[in-house]
Amino acid sequence: MKKTKIFADANLAVGAIDPNLYGSFIEHLGRAVYEGIYEPGHPEADEDGFRRDVISLIQELGVPIVRYPGGNFLSGYDWMDGIGPKEKRPVRLDLAWHTTEPNEFGTDEFMKWCKKAAITPMMGVNMGTGTVREAARLVEYCNHEGGTELSELRKANGAKEPYHVRYWCLGNEMDGAWQIGHLSADEYGKKAVEAAKVMRWTNGECDGFGPHPAPLKLIVSGSSNHEMDTFPEWDRIVLEHTYGYVDYLSMHRYYMYSADRKHPLEDFLGSADDMNEFIGTIRATIEYVRAKVRSQKRLFISFDEWNIWTLTAPRTEPLWKRAPHLLEDVYTFQDALVFAGLMNTLLNNCDVVKLACLAQLVNVIAPIMTKKGGGAFRQASFYPFKAIAHAARGETLRTFSDSASFGTMYGKARYINEAVSHDKNTRTVCVSLCNYAQEACETELELRSFGDLAATGYLEMTHSDLFATNGFDHPDTVVPHEKDLPQVKQGKVTLTLPAMSWSLVTFRY
Ligand code: AHR
Repeated sequence: MKKTKIFADANLAVGAIDPNLYGSFIEHLGRAVYEGIYEPGHPEADEDGFRRDVISLIQELGVPIVRYPGGNFLSGYDWMDGIGPKEKRPVRLDLAWHTTEPNEFGTDEFMKWCKKAAITPMMGVNMGTGTVREAARLVEYCNHEGGTELSELRKANGAKEPYHVRYWCLGNEMDGAWQIGHLSADEYGKKAVEAAKVMRWTNGECDGFGPHPAPLKLIVSGSSNHEMDTFPEWDRIVLEHTYGYVDYLSMHRYYMYSADRKHPLEDFLGSADDMNEFIGTIRATIEYVRAKVRSQKRLFISFDEWNIWTLTAPRTEPLWKRAPHLLEDVYTFQDALVFAGLMNTLLNNCDVVKLACLAQLVNVIAPIMTKKGGGAFRQASFYPFKAIAHAARGETLRTFSDSASFGTMYGKARYINEAVSHDKNTRTVCVSLCNYAQEACETELELRSFGDLAATGYLEMTHSDLFATNGFDHPDTVVPHEKDLPQVKQGKVTLTLPAMSWSLVTFRY
């Protein structure tokens, strides 16, 4: 059996965990909106057509903020198409996903849904085919009190009070040739800074009026992934244009297990450590630009698309279909293990990653799957997300580990991948542990700085079949199991982590 020691100290914190680290994403893509969160006529639908069963699963998952309406969809979207009487809204071709968009669900429906689901909206403005003016007009529609054409239009559409939307993405993946209206870094940087400026002015953030009580939180588009030829120059150039005007730089990354098995499993198991490297490069790029533009402001990362996405299934749905089955990945137990490691990486970088969105939330590469007119089930990935989002609060602690490592296409990765968090308010400690080895590992956690510590919970996810999945007719095949609480002796606890497993242990002191 392998052996590993992990040490963490209450006085050595990485940073505060922003609850927005547990955000997610709903795009007009496939069945995320239609048949996902919105399905009028469904037995569980409320008077607005929102599926109550889906809202309660999202609340169970613990998602506080949702990015909307895209994604690639955003770059071809005219937000004016999605407001007003539904029968008058245009039906359009969506060129991002080659589907037909009925526009039955738009900004007002999303805001209403967010309110019912107790979710903070994170809106996107179109920087592909959209203009600076259209972006500012959407801010006016959402946030202006009244007395102007657009704020009165919002009232006429049923929302007397402004929505006070604070989080705004300035476009999506603008570095990608697949983006409708793709731009170079310089072109995008110039457009984004103008959009940011005018959106802030529309929100009433103007020089000479003192600090605004609720300034917008603006997210500028970073590289779509670290395999882009333009990475990381894209990020540097875009930030040099926008540093003074924005709050976050976005990062996106999907990992996959090579479906043809041409890449060894180790490459997939190295995803969490690779994500850590990617964040490290972006962190350094932000600091470089901060020095270059002589700014004292700290800029953060919004990792607003992350997940496992196998990207291989050929499309079987016809062109221009409404709400087709697209990107409906079914997650395996093995995916859930890698997924937990990605969450550990986000936690271990919580000093700079202040917002993250699991992409996506329902039906499209999602933890929640629904059937039209029928039920819903929790994917294997649902469980690590839920457990970590509920338990890993407060601040992340720096860990010291002697875990052995293995080689991957990205470099070296650790067999034991951990994140330790500490919530001073509740006097709790949470340890999330992945064992990526093919053998069990005796792991000693040394947490003596907490004094008298007792375990309060111990969840373990393991399975004899790495490819086991959940489904409508077998919803509980891949679930975590509760274990007997381990004994803590003089601040130390020893756990046997099974081969290929994820565990979450909580303590109180
Ligand atoms: O989440 C699916 C797609 O992945 C998004 O639309 C896009 O931003 C990314 O390429």
